[in-house]
Amino acid sequence: MKKLIIYGALVPDTVKLIDTINDSSPTWELIGYIDDNKERHCKTFMDYPILGGTEIIPELIKDNDIYFFATYYGKLSGFKNRVNILESYGCKFANLIHPSINIKYVKIGKGCFLAEGCNLGANIEIGNYVNARIRAVICHNTTIEDFSFIGPNSTVGSGVVLKEGCFIGTGATILRTKTLGKASTIGAGAMVVKNVPDGITVVGVPAKKIRKSLFKRAIHWIKRQYTFLFSKNLKEITFKLSQKTQLK
Ligand SMILES: CC(C)(COP(=O)(O)OP(=O)(O)OC[C@H]1O[C@@H](n2cnc3c(N)ncnc32)[C@H](O)[C@@H]1OP(=O)(O)O)[C@@H](O)C(=O)NCCC(=O)NCCS
Repeated sequence: MKKLIIYGALVPDTVKLIDTINDSSPTWELIGYIDDNKERHCKTFMDYPILGGTEIIPELIKDNDIYFFATYYGKLSGFKNRVNILESYGCKFANLIHPSINIKYVKIGKGCFLAEGCNLGANIEIGNYVNARIRAVICHNTTIEDFSFIGPNSTVGSGVVLKEGCFIGTGATILRTKTLGKASTIGAGAMVVKNVPDGITVVGVPAKKIRKSLFKRAIHWIKRQYTFLFSKNLKEITFKLSQKTQLK
């Protein structure tokens, strides 16, 4: 068994995937997590300890056999930051790939998360730190660059290119041979029929650029800053609190 540390606690699917991999073939001994939130330190999540913050990495990597996995939650920038910190210490990265996935004729980098039910065609290139969530379908001859996120139940057609840091929302479809630009965002349920430029968000069927008036942008910004003032976000708050209660 190889030792494993997860950077970023409170992502239950990561632990579940590790358990499933081990059920199929004992591979990872999960030692625990590191996390930026000091309030979580010395607690446990899903029975594994939150060992501390990034300050303990130098101690951990004294063990040559230790691997790391950075979880993708929140924003791309936060995820990249976690990966960059681990890279700066020269950490080794684990790939977490569900045992049912057929990875024949697929090239896969490091630090990737491929969830249950992902369906991969032949001649696919997957870079580093790529996340493909439950039942994502990726057709043949597709290139997926580093830090891309492919949401649950989405379909990426053949010959598609996902540039670095693309985000594909739940259930979206990308038609064949299209290119999604660097850090572009595809809304949940969108049908992408044209190339998407760098940094652009598209939604709908067919997918079109989100247009927000200055007024809407201002409201959105205020909502983000003062989340607790908006009852519309109560569900999200309850969700986050319920995650916290899983800490022991
Ligand atoms: C596309 C997305 C990123 C936009 O988020 P945002 O920038 O916060 O945008 P807002 O929620 O302020 O919405 C802006 C406008 O786009 C519309 N919109 C947002 N998402 C949409 C979607 N997926 N499809 C159609 N319209 C959408 C909103 O209704 C709103 O319209 P309005 O201006 O007429 O009121 C987000 O809505 C989304 O779809 N995220 C995907 C989430 C997901 O699937 N995650 C994977 C979980 S594992």
